[in-house]
Amino acid sequence: MKIVLSGIKPSGELNIGGYGGALHQFLALQQQQFECLFFVPDLHAVTVAQDPNVLRKRTMDIAAYYIAAGIDPKKATIFIQSHVSAHAELGWLMETQAHFGELSRMTQFKEKSNGKDTVSSALFTYPVLMAADILLYQATHVPVGDDQKQHLEMTRDLAARFNQRFRPVFTVPEPIIQQLGSRIMSLDDPAKKMSKSNPNANSYILFQDSPEVIHKKIAKAVTDSEGVVRCDWAHKPAVSNLIEIYAVFADESVETIESRYKGVGYGAFKRDLADVIAAKLQPIQRRYSEIVESDELIRILKDGAVKAAETANRTLLQAKQAMGFVTWAQ
Ligand code: TYM
Repeated sequence: MKIVLSGIKPSGELNIGGYGGALHQFLALQQQQFECLFFVPDLHAVTVAQDPNVLRKRTMDIAAYYIAAGIDPKKATIFIQSHVSAHAELGWLMETQAHFGELSRMTQFKEKSNGKDTVSSALFTYPVLMAADILLYQATHVPVGDDQKQHLEMTRDLAARFNQRFRPVFTVPEPIIQQLGSRIMSLDDPAKKMSKSNPNANSYILFQDSPEVIHKKIAKAVTDSEGVVRCDWAHKPAVSNLIEIYAVFADESVETIESRYKGVGYGAFKRDLADVIAAKLQPIQRRYSEIVESDELIRILKDGAVKAAETANRTLLQAKQAMGFVTWAQ
């Protein structure tokens, strides 16, 4: 049985990076013979300061966007992480297996703590909670963007270490990182990942952006002086990034796009790219606004949490028994 688990943190407005690395893959996997679990990792969001009201809204927003983008609650289990307490509990147990040294090598921690006077200890141990998220469901496959690769490697190490030290409890998961869309870069600087934490709002496109805003941001996106629509990450990273975004949003190959724009300048290419993105986002925005305040969404998330907790509690019990905790029949 193939089991897929993944999630998007409710720590900022959703941008199209999350579509490329995550949602686009979730939708493809849901069509295949996988059991899918998609969750909202709210416990991860609080590793940095969050306004409680904003966190509440963003958590529901991410869940609504999953469904609006096409995740089918009849096919996939959709839930909020903090509704399944086994995540926090297994997270603690796995911390006993993680080494300070390996956590210190996590590049995301280095980036996020860089220049800050204080950071929470949860930000440091965050990859262990992520491992617990995955291992609780015996996930075989985890679709993520390229920036999560190191966390997935750590998950695999922790699972193998636990299995060897105690007994085989956890499935060692495989990451799924697509060639296209797993590294969507900033529109103002192709050396930086597209991220909602960038102070320049023109560097990213949000799920909620109107067609006008999308056109404005794409028009401002950096290119180069060659004037040729050609994918070449080494020499033309900015244009290559735009071509990849186009490919992901239009579900077309890079070659098709390159040949369509042969002999055409960046202006027409950019206008079409903005149209392609807007055409994908508009129906998602409509469906999102129908569902976000609905009882239907609450019911989906409640059902999802009950279903997820069954599996999660079973794995947690096995892990506790393996470690030597006193567990009476429950
Ligand atoms: P998060 O919330 O930062 O990002 C969600 C997903 O989107 C991908 N992503 C991108 N992909 C391509 N280009 C970008 N610019 C871009 N920005 C984000 C991320 O790689 C990710 O797949 N730790 C995770 C959340 C998490 C998780 C998990 C994921 C917690 N537990 C268990 C999978 C399984 C995170 O912070 O993703």
